[in-house]
Amino acid sequence: MTNHFDEKEIEAIVKKFGAKEDALISILQEVQRKQGFLSEQTVLCLSGKLNLPAGQIYGVASYYKVFRTEPGGREEIKVCDGTSCHLKGAGELIARLKRELKVEEGEPTEDQRYTLEKVRCQGYCQIGPALKINEAVHGPVTQEKAIKLIKEQR
Ligand code: FES
Repeated sequence: MTNHFDEKEIEAIVKKFGAKEDALISILQEVQRKQGFLSEQTVLCLSGKLNLPAGQIYGVASYYKVFRTEPGGREEIKVCDGTSCHLKGAGELIARLKRELKVEEGEPTEDQRYTLEKVRCQGYCQIGPALKINEAVHGPVTQEKAIKLIKEQR
């Protein structure tokens, strides 16, 4: 990740996907991946480059849960707290991770590295409690194993 706003980088991404409306989602994904979140400055810049109203870009960004318009950690840690995972200790796991990372749910860690989120059933109930770090699913995870997995990311 570079800065939260880098016009040259945005320009290169728009060029890669093409300055057209149907490339918007791909462009937003790549911009967020590189710049962490979609800042107001970023949205306005994209609005100019794609010739789309900023409101439309915000509409897309808020419709899809993957997009963030506020700063968040670069790495997403999602703990499932669906019924099955909850019965297998997900609540205690979340509490432990909150203490370990010193964050509240949905907030980035101080170093902007991680965001801890509690999510609903992800369909991995048989390996619960399930933990997802970015795209990788792990389970069943004990509290110790979860902390080890997160440390391995560092
Ligand atoms: S309840 Fe956690 S994956 Fe289904």
